[in-house]
Amino acid sequence: MNRRSSRSRGKRTSSRTKHPPRRRLRFALVGCGGMGRYHARSLLGISEIEVVALCDVVKSRCLAFCKEFFGPKGFKPAVYTDFYKMIARESLDAVILVTPHTLHYPHAKAALQKGVHVLSEKPMVTTTAHARELVALAESKQRLLAVAFQAPVSAEFTYIAELIRSGALGRIELVDAYVAQQWKTITNGTWRQDPKLSGGGQLYDSGAHMLNAMMWLVDSPVKRVFAMADRCGTKVDINGTVSVVFENGCLGSIACLGDATMTGDTGVTLFATEGTIKTGIWGEKLEHFDKSGEKILYPYVPYKTVPPERNFVDAILGRDTLRCPGRYGILLAELMDAIYESIETGRPVDVRHREDFQAFRP
Ligand SMILES: NC(=O)c1ccc[n+]([C@@H]2O[C@H](COP(=O)([O-])OP(=O)(O)OC[C@H]3O[C@@H](n4cnc5c(N)ncnc54)[C@H](O)[C@@H]3O)[C@@H](O)[C@H]2O)c1
Repeated sequence: MNRRSSRSRGKRTSSRTKHPPRRRLRFALVGCGGMGRYHARSLLGISEIEVVALCDVVKSRCLAFCKEFFGPKGFKPAVYTDFYKMIARESLDAVILVTPHTLHYPHAKAALQKGVHVLSEKPMVTTTAHARELVALAESKQRLLAVAFQAPVSAEFTYIAELIRSGALGRIELVDAYVAQQWKTITNGTWRQDPKLSGGGQLYDSGAHMLNAMMWLVDSPVKRVFAMADRCGTKVDINGTVSVVFENGCLGSIACLGDATMTGDTGVTLFATEGTIKTGIWGEKLEHFDKSGEKILYPYVPYKTVPPERNFVDAILGRDTLRCPGRYGILLAELMDAIYESIETGRPVDVRHREDFQAFRP
C-alpha cells in the first residue's frame, strides 16, 4: 500500500467516526386495536425508527396503547384522533395503517401525496381502481407502498420460493388451500361484518392471506375464477369456495370457512411434478414430500422470518427489496373483484389484469 492510499484511508475512517448518527425514521402507527399491538411490539424492536405519532378514533384506546407500549420505553408519541390532522402536522417518513379495510385507501392516498411511505395492513384496498391509483401514486412520488402479509416474509415461504426458483419442486400443477375459523361468531357486531368498513367478509379478511399466499407461491396471477359463498344470515360472505386457474396453467381450489367450530386452522398444499409442499396461509408450518411421496423430515431452512415492518424499514433504507409490494394489492383487488362478480352472477369470471406479469415475485 502506498503512503497516499494509507493517508486517505485514515482520513476516511476518522471522518466516518465523526459523522453524526443517521437520524431515526419518523413513523406513525394508525389504528390501536388488536393488530396494532403486534405492529407496536415489532416497531419497538427496530432501532432505526421512532414512532412519533399514534392515531385512533377512540382517544382513550390510543392513550392506553401509548401508555402500555411506548411509556415504559421512554417514548412519547403524539396522540391523534384525526388521521388528516396528524398527516398535516407531523413530519413523517412512514405510516403503518392498521385500521378497517376501506379506510386504507383514503389514508394511504393522503400519506403518499405528502411523500410519506406506506405499509398497509391487508387487504391494501378493496377495489381494483383504488389499488391501481395508489400504486401509480407511490411510483410518481417515489415512495414505498407495501402490504403487511406475514407469509411472504416467513422463512418457510422463502424456502419454498427457493425450491421453486431452483427447479427442485418442478412445475406446480395444483394448489389447494383452506382457512377455517369461528370468524362469524368472533366478528359479530364489529366493523368486519359491516361491508362499508370491511369491503367484504371472510374472503377479504383471512381469505386475503390465503389468496395472496397462493399467488405469491405459484408465482402467477389468477386468470379465471368460479366462486360461491354463503353469508350465513349476515351482510358479508362467511363461507366461500373458489376454483381458480392461474395464468401459468396451475389449477387451484380454495375453501374459506368462517363458520367453523374449530378456532383456527389453515393449509396450503402445492402439488408439483417433483414433490409436494404443505404449508399454512401465514407460513406457519412446512412439510416437504419428495417425488416418491417420502416425507423429508426436518427440511433444512437456512432463512430467517423477517417481520413485515423490518422488511419495510430495510427497503426504505435501501438494504432490501419489498417482499410484498403494492403490486400484490392490485392482484388481490383484481382477484376479489372477479370473485365477488362470480358469486353474484353464478358464473365463471375472467380476472381483469392490466399489467404484464413476467417477473412476478420480487
Ligand atoms: N396480518 C394479520 O395477521 C392481521 C391480523 C388481524 C388484523 N389484520 C388487519 O389489521 C387491520 C386492523 O384489524 P384489527 O384486528 O386490528 O381491528 P381492530 O378493530 O382491533 O382495530 C382497528 C382500530 O382502528 C381504529 N380506527 C377505526 N377507524 C379509524 C380511523 N378513521 N382512524 C384511526 N383509527 C381508526 C379503531 O378504533 C380500532 O382501534 C385490518 O386491516 C385487518 O385485516 C391483520
